[in-house]
Amino acid sequence: MSEYVIAIDQGTTSTRAIIFDNSGSIVSSGQLEHEQIFPKPGWVEHDPNEIWNNTREVIGKALSAANLTRHNIKAIGITNQRETAVVWDKNTGEPVYNAIVWQDTRTQSIVDRFAADGGVERFKPIVGLPLATYFSGTKIVWILENVEGAREKADAGDLLFGTTDSWVLWNLTGGVDGGVHATDVTNASRTLFMDLVTLSWRQDILDLFGVPLSMMPEIRSSSEVYGVAEPNSLLREVPIAGILGDQQAATFGQAAFDAGEAKNTYGTGNFLIFNTGEEIIHSQNGLLTTLGYKIGNEKPHYALEGSIAVTGSLVQWMRDNLGLIKSADEIESLAATVDDNGGAYFVPAFSGLFAPYWRADARGALVGLTRYVNKGHIARAVLEATAYQTREVLDAVNADSGVPLTELKVDGGMIANNLLMQFQADILGVPVVRPVVAETTALGAAYAAGLATGFWSDMDDLRKNWQEDSRWTPSMDSDESERLLRNWKKAVTKTFDWVD
Ligand code: G3P
Repeated sequence: MSEYVIAIDQGTTSTRAIIFDNSGSIVSSGQLEHEQIFPKPGWVEHDPNEIWNNTREVIGKALSAANLTRHNIKAIGITNQRETAVVWDKNTGEPVYNAIVWQDTRTQSIVDRFAADGGVERFKPIVGLPLATYFSGTKIVWILENVEGAREKADAGDLLFGTTDSWVLWNLTGGVDGGVHATDVTNASRTLFMDLVTLSWRQDILDLFGVPLSMMPEIRSSSEVYGVAEPNSLLREVPIAGILGDQQAATFGQAAFDAGEAKNTYGTGNFLIFNTGEEIIHSQNGLLTTLGYKIGNEKPHYALEGSIAVTGSLVQWMRDNLGLIKSADEIESLAATVDDNGGAYFVPAFSGLFAPYWRADARGALVGLTRYVNKGHIARAVLEATAYQTREVLDAVNADSGVPLTELKVDGGMIANNLLMQFQADILGVPVVRPVVAETTALGAAYAAGLATGFWSDMDDLRKNWQEDSRWTPSMDSDESERLLRNWKKAVTKTFDWVD
């Protein structure tokens, strides 16, 4: 009987299940979007029950699309939107509040409170992250302080916290009937609570934040058997054997296993991950230090990360909030109606600015407007924003590592946009390369699960699966690309100091 691995990709806008064969090719998939809940400016929530129901449904869709059953599935990998915090009651399985999404900025006052003594970088040497609303730790604090009864229940040991990998794992392994409460090192490294060296929760930081250790999932490696799917699942008894946060999963799926290798994912946001091997490098240039992956008992791999909050979601915003395009892919033809940005620059600081600025006080701005600018120029400015932000992050990576990257592996939804990819190569001044299997996030989770269960034997097995599909090489005059970048940087400064 043919065997495959299934990956569950619990992302920001949708949940997907993708079945892969041994060559790393996609056999079938299922996908469902979930509601984006915006209760107030800056707040972003998801319904965890909707996410879990969708997870079950997409597993069914993927299996039936290829006429497969659980007997064909050797292992399950999970990958997820990181930092998004779910807190639930372990006795009922009910979330006490909606999931607070990574983009949500409601915890700024909590950040300010903890930063008052020692500044936003006070925990960075230990956890690799600055204090920021982005990370899940401050979101747990908000729930404990604002949801009625949550604090008492947490102190009584009745509440569990997890990013959505843990939420899916706990439910998939039985929920209230013995669900496994665990996460992997990559997701744990996004909380503000994990020590990068010991890979365990820091009791002193948890105490300071008022988060009981009993809420926290067990930290495990990224590739090992965590448990098996529960009896009522379509995948019953199939081992769950891989967990990676989605950006680390994409790095793994790009076979960027070694120090010096990197990838950039173009999703709702952009995330450039640069593998630093077994070395922990503390950025001097606004990057995060994070876990890359850890295979079973082997030593962990670390990474530098440039996180950009808004890239693809700016295109969605242009579609949903402005109605300038009907579908996201229309942006390319609209942008192609003009030759350049007409002097317009769009800085999408909707969640403040992440790397390399980390300015919570920033808000979005469209600048450089004259009567000449039309919607084609604005479409262009929207796409260019992704490329400039990526350039700034790549400059930070090059400065931190001291060895400039000579090409950039890319993946994610926006890489279907040729105009953007060419402009990206022009602005970076290095080639941009896309693999044949561009679903690298799900593939990385499948790889982690397949390695733990013998479906793939080792990293070399996986490296062989990577094949180049397309390459964009820089063709813009470097004076022109530097001029554009200078203007972009000027535009960025206009977004500061917008929060009272
Ligand atoms: O850090 C946030 C990131 O993990 C979300 O990724 O692809 O779901 O937007 P994505």
